[in-house]
Amino acid sequence: MLTQQQLKQQAADAALDYIEPFLGPQTVIGVGTGSTADLFIDGLSRYKTRLLGTVASSERSAARLARHGLPVLDLNEVRSMPVYVDGADEIDTGLHMIKGGGGALTREKIVASVAERFVCIADESKLVRRLGAFPLPVEVIGMAREAVSRRLAELGGRAALRTGFVTDNGNVILDVAGLRIDDPKRLEATINNIPGVVTCGLFALSGATLALLATQSGVRRLPGS
Ligand code: 5RP
Repeated sequence: MLTQQQLKQQAADAALDYIEPFLGPQTVIGVGTGSTADLFIDGLSRYKTRLLGTVASSERSAARLARHGLPVLDLNEVRSMPVYVDGADEIDTGLHMIKGGGGALTREKIVASVAERFVCIADESKLVRRLGAFPLPVEVIGMAREAVSRRLAELGGRAALRTGFVTDNGNVILDVAGLRIDDPKRLEATINNIPGVVTCGLFALSGATLALLATQSGVRRLPGS
């Protein structure tokens, strides 16, 4: 029986195999945040002479990449990336995701938007029939915290401030429980449209291109539509 850590490692290894054909002197790889992304970063160090650099979705990942001697580029210097690799808190079979358990959702969404492909790496426990058991992280400008919480309550959510946490962008996170997510794309647009919301952790309007989900019997590939 493989542990969750071993499953995460398998998913990270599968992503390293996936990106290999894209490597070259001009290649920039987008890198996510979290414990699974950390394993991907550790493995990426073996390719460090075969790429131009990386773009990180958080200060935490940037520091880990730098420790491995992997160049970390400013997104403003990068026009395109073939692949962005990141974990998820939940993913459904349509490859819509909830992300932001690590609080890096906004930069994750930005870096992913510049990449041609989003490869989601996770152990199979992250695959769900319907998103929403995991409270939805929403990055909010501090002064709007209560106003946004009230609007989220109108949508059926119970927002809790993530205490002792400030995002890399200087904002707060509301973790929103109780939302009924029947239409992830619509809910993403609705929440993102609330004044004071920087972005919500639904990645549905633009989901993953491919999920590499580690199971006890190997890595399952779920392609996007
Ligand atoms: C960070 C994220 C992570 O991808 C998500 O929380 C999954 O993390 P882990 O790989 O540690 O389970 O969205 O903001």
